[in-house]
Amino acid sequence: MRKLTYFIAVSIDGFIGGPDGEAQFFTEYVDEEFLEFLKAEFPETLPTNGRRMLGLDDLENQQFDTVIQGRASYDIALDLDVTSPYAHMRQFVASRSIEKSPDPAVEIVSDDLVGRVRALKEEEGPLGIYLCGGSGLAGELVDEVDELVLKTYPVVLGSGMPMFASGFALTEFELDSVRTFGNGILVRRYSRKR
Ligand SMILES: NC(=O)c1ccc[n+]([C@@H]2O[C@H](COP(=O)([O-])OP(=O)(O)OC[C@H]3O[C@@H](n4cnc5c(N)ncnc54)[C@H](OP(=O)(O)O)[C@@H]3O)[C@@H](O)[C@H]2O)c1
Repeated sequence: MRKLTYFIAVSIDGFIGGPDGEAQFFTEYVDEEFLEFLKAEFPETLPTNGRRMLGLDDLENQQFDTVIQGRASYDIALDLDVTSPYAHMRQFVASRSIEKSPDPAVEIVSDDLVGRVRALKEEEGPLGIYLCGGSGLAGELVDEVDELVLKTYPVVLGSGMPMFASGFALTEFELDSVRTFGNGILVRRYSRKR
């Protein structure tokens, strides 16, 4: 079984962005130390255009070889005329409104989302599946999430987009590791208790 990992930037108070999901302000905290960490441990989570700008095109995937994101998150790339934002992985976008994928490298999942994710998890392979967000998609997939990697940035937002747009349910996780960075970022890794 491959794991589905929700790897996400959050505020101290647990929001993944402002009320409309805006999350660009988190990137201001990506300093040299944190970028070195991402390059070494999660290089595939950097979008293709960012990797290109930083001269990191050739970094090998370390944790994930597949990414799934919701249509609203994919829209952010489309707005920049990027149709294949994670070209170094297999890419899936959940959407009932996109009729035809704008890119041959991106597969649209329009029905049986959970079944599709379960089938991906059942594939053999050393690398896992990166649940990229956003809140709506994570809410739909909360029961399938095996692991959380929370990049907590040292900001409080007061209100905003929750990690999971789902109803109340107590879902237990076990803390595997904590890593702290000089500028106040905290990266916690949790496994799902089953
Ligand atoms: N902090 C971070 O690290 C981070 C990471 C990623 C995203 N974000 C933020 O998250 C925001 C977007 O989150 P969001 O909650 O608004 O949207 P989202 O989760 O990115 O996308 C929601 C869309 O996914 C599709 N979808 C959801 N469930 C589905 C299902 N069961 N079957 C088929 N399609 C399904 C629907 O698309 P259709 O409407 O097309 O049917 C739905 O409108 C962005 O603003 C982004 O900035 C933050």
